[in-house]
Amino acid sequence: MSARRYLLLVLVAVISLHYTLSVFFYDYGRVSSLSNLAQRLGLEQTIANLSQVTTANPSHTPYSNLTEFGARANATFVFLCRNNDLGGVVSSIRQMEDRFNRHYKYPWVLLNEEPFTDDFKQRVSVLTDAPISFGQIPREHWYQPDWVDEDKARNGRLKMMAQGIIYAGSVPYRNMCRFNSGFFFQHELLRPYRYYWRVEPDVKFFCDVHYDPFKFMEQNNKVYGFTITLVEWEATIPTLWATVKEFLNENPQFVSPHNSMDFLSDNGGDTYNLCHYWSNFEIADMDFWRGEAYQKFFAFLESKGGFYYERWGDAPVHSIAASLFARRDQVHFFRDIGYRHDPFQHCPQGDDWFRGRCACDSRDNFDYAPNSCIRRHEALYV
Ligand SMILES: *[C@@H]1O[C@H](CO)[C@@H](O)[C@H](O)[C@H]1NC(C)=O
Ligand SMILES: *[C@@H]1O[C@H](CO)[C@@H](O)[C@H](O)[C@H]1NC(C)=O
Ligand SMILES: *[C@@H]1O[C@H](CO)[C@@H](O)[C@H](O)[C@H]1NC(C)=O
Repeated sequence: MSARRYLLLVLVAVISLHYTLSVFFYDYGRVSSLSNLAQRLGLEQTIANLSQVTTANPSHTPYSNLTEFGARANATFVFLCRNNDLGGVVSSIRQMEDRFNRHYKYPWVLLNEEPFTDDFKQRVSVLTDAPISFGQIPREHWYQPDWVDEDKARNGRLKMMAQGIIYAGSVPYRNMCRFNSGFFFQHELLRPYRYYWRVEPDVKFFCDVHYDPFKFMEQNNKVYGFTITLVEWEATIPTLWATVKEFLNENPQFVSPHNSMDFLSDNGGDTYNLCHYWSNFEIADMDFWRGEAYQKFFAFLESKGGFYYERWGDAPVHSIAASLFARRDQVHFFRDIGYRHDPFQHCPQGDDWFRGRCACDSRDNFDYAPNSCIRRHEALYV
């Protein structure tokens, strides 16, 4: 082998070795410098902290009187959901925090008929600095009671299915309607509070809320606040109005002299026009539900079994009670809160839309729908 040839081979070998080593060291260097970076930024500590969230017993501070925005109301969010709603729960809480609660830090109470998983609690706890509690619903507040005649209930479900009504065959849906009508405000995690804002998975909050709606409720002595009002499916409540009339005959003392019967009925209470407030959004006063009028009213409805023999919804039940037992000026239309629960939305109009930096099309607004009851509601106040 010539000396030249030998030199060339050595050169090639050295160059190859250099490339191999440099690639290896380069990659290794990159990985190790990322890991240093993570340490410097405290990412590892953050990750370690996050994994402790569920065990750290998220402090349940029922009521604290001050925030940077001044005195807070005695209020909380209420969120009924299941472990498999996680994606929609994260989305709803994220929006509420962005648009309102990051300034106020009102607590969140999440309720489920089963225990929440650790994964669920961890994924939700990181969304807010406000206190969050995760509660389980007592069996007797959720499941169909034993005294309900299951044959009669099944016949009711089959009949409704034949009419093509949504959730016609669902017992869990009925459990939920009954729970939301008569029990949520008795849960131990909600007892310390007066006002609540009901939130559901996968809803949208379109606008900044520049004031405290809970404070508004408190200062103006409001009982019930809504964003969307519409006509109910009659097939879900065939005997509800007759039951309401029977209750009113026996208990006329509960009816407010300044009630909104005209919202519910076009003939002074003879028949129900099916108008109700859409209860998946509610800002309301739990002491109203806990009060004597509503307690007696709910017990009477419950005794008729209509939550299971028919499919009485918490929306008509709450709406009828708020319209009859509260004064008409205690029911409030939150026209400035942009809200969507598929398939309907309320998008604020005009100045409200600009002020709230609303992310919705103001023409897509249920107030304009033929089956909206908003004109009937507003007619109460002229
Ligand atoms: C992690 O938690 C500890 C103790 O609560 C706290 O001192 C530290 O600042 C936290 N670190 C990060 C990065 O959040
Ligand atoms: C309000 O809260 C602050 C601090 O959170 C406390 O020092 C103060 O005593 C409270 N005031 C009342 C009237 O409870
Ligand atoms: C908040 O309201 C609930 C229900 O009315 C009441 O029991 C509780 O004492 C109130 N808390 C405060 C701090 O006023």
